Amino acid sequence: MKTEYDFFIIDREHLKGKKTFPFQIYVFNPVHKKFSMFLNGNRPLTKELDSFLSYLLEMGGKVAILKKQKKTFLSAQEIHESEIPSLQTRELHELEKERIMNIKLKEMFDEKHGAFSFQTEFDNACESDNFEKIIEYARIEILTFSVTQSHTISLALQLSKQYLDRDNYLNRIVATSYLLARNMNIQDPNALADVVCGAYLSHIGYTQLPLSMLKDDVLSLPEKDRKLFEKHTILGHHLIKKGQLDISERCKKIILDHHERINGDGYPGMKYGDQIEQLSLLVGSIAHLFEYSTGKINGRKMKMKTIIMNIKNKNYSPGLEFNFGDKVFNSLVTLINTDKIEEKKAA
Ligand SMILES: [Fe+2]
Repeated sequence: MKTEYDFFIIDREHLKGKKTFPFQIYVFNPVHKKFSMFLNGNRPLTKELDSFLSYLLEMGGKVAILKKQKKTFLSAQEIHESEIPSLQTRELHELEKERIMNIKLKEMFDEKHGAFSFQTEFDNACESDNFEKIIEYARIEILTFSVTQSHTISLALQLSKQYLDRDNYLNRIVATSYLLARNMNIQDPNALADVVCGAYLSHIGYTQLPLSMLKDDVLSLPEKDRKLFEKHTILGHHLIKKGQLDISERCKKIILDHHERINGDGYPGMKYGDQIEQLSLLVGSIAHLFEYSTGKINGRKMKMKTIIMNIKNKNYSPGLEFNFGDKVFNSLVTLINTDKIEEKKAA
């Protein structure tokens, strides 16, 4: 995995109008904060590519060269290092050094363990009631996030560093939400950080409710108490705003809307369809899975596999919810291989 620490930025003029280069040229995309290969070494910079490069630079892109090709670049372009501002040494902040180390650790982890299969690991975790591997993998990935991009990303990093290191109820929700988001091909670190912080903070409103209320399952609460319980969404959102916690608006929406459902029967706003952020539905769906499996909804514990089967088949079960929108629903039901279970049943 290449990061900003692997590159230095140059001006277009440093290419000196040449058409081939013995080094690779990358372009930095400021929207996705990613470096993409633009031109391989010794390949011609055609007229079309030249125009495309102009377009990318007009859009805010930057030309970048791999640090390991610095010598080749300086010698081929007959430029002295002092002429490239991005090559002037800067002492890295401790957090940046830590990030580089975490990136290397992730590379070593991947080399040792091979590709991570979320479905297989989730299946094993449910079977053994042990989510250590899921939590560990989520932590390893989150710790590679940029330390300078946004307050929410920094908070996701800090929360993961401090707390995402043991198998407990909240960490199961955080890690599973994060990995489901990755499984849905969500790659933007801002969105992933919103998921992590949203999952950690969406039940902070519980702190404002009477403790006795949290001991009973939701369906057995008297109507008056249930209405108060449902306010944990608004209370949590209010607490975050009042505390002036510097997190993104989307993350605040996750806290407020994690019980909204696309058919409009959620709370607190009875929002409908596209009015609900997909990430709110995502975190809400995973919180619901764990709440349901531990009996917090209807007082009866249920195996995660059975819940997912019931969600997949839309089998009615008291308090079980399905209306998370197509994209979240379709990812949720692939969390375990329900076909295998159905085959077993048939046999
Ligand atoms: Fe909740």
